[in-house]
Amino acid sequence: MEKKKPVTQESFAFNDSAPCPTVPVPAGPIPAPPPATPRNKVTLTVDGKTVQVPEGSTLLEACRTLGIDTPTLCFLENLNPVNVCRVCVVELEGARTLVPACSRPAENGMVIRTDSERVRLSRRMVLEFLASSVDVSTAPELQAYLERYGGQPERYGPAAPAAGEPETERAGAHCPTDGQTAATVAQPVKIDNDLYIRDYGKCILCYKCVKRAVRRHRTPLPSPWPAADSTAASPPNTRFRSRIPPVSIAETASGSVPPEP
Ligand code: SF4
Ligand code: FES
Repeated sequence: MEKKKPVTQESFAFNDSAPCPTVPVPAGPIPAPPPATPRNKVTLTVDGKTVQVPEGSTLLEACRTLGIDTPTLCFLENLNPVNVCRVCVVELEGARTLVPACSRPAENGMVIRTDSERVRLSRRMVLEFLASSVDVSTAPELQAYLERYGGQPERYGPAAPAAGEPETERAGAHCPTDGQTAATVAQPVKIDNDLYIRDYGKCILCYKCVKRAVRRHRTPLPSPWPAADSTAASPPNTRFRSRIPPVSIAETASGSVPPEP
């Protein structure tokens, strides 16, 4: 019986059908990446100053280009915007409502005001609502925003006594109060084990943790807020995709993740 010859780099190079034990390394210098496609610029006015940003940029990026410090709570550079906190709103000339800077794309000719009375009032209200219903004692950034906008969460009255597990009724639900005290999401801390401790009394529902975990693990988290029927098991998610679209409050509360459009 003829003895089989060992496969070498040389014999392999002339025999395409032979199994390749190694991945050939291309010779020569490492090829340079193709040049980035230049992006068109859009020009807009923010607080009276003209600024140019690449097409597709958000108003928040335009503000930051000008060094305008716009508050954000639910925004993170590496997550899709969820638009839930609304503390970043700005005034867009010609628009009926304030617009969230973190997700609204900049367009040519826009005129934006980031520090008008209307913007300041809206931001103050958002921050006051949060600080009066959530324990923000461990959130120095939010407290700094409160101070900046003159928030007075104490004007809603002292915190109402903790009322069991309000989130089992509805995500972020507040229980009715006597009208003299502020409704809160205060509730007992949930200690599952030494590593997994959930204090929903401090959760502002920014969804950063949900978005981060969904994107990283491509699987639904145990929702930060249980489904309305706490006895019903969350359905298993089989709709994983490479890009996860924003998760709405209702979808998150039910433990499901929407399909990519
Ligand atoms: S627990 Fe999640 S949703 Fe709540 S404040 Fe923290 S990061 Fe945001
Ligand atoms: S940071 Fe823009 S909506 Fe929350």
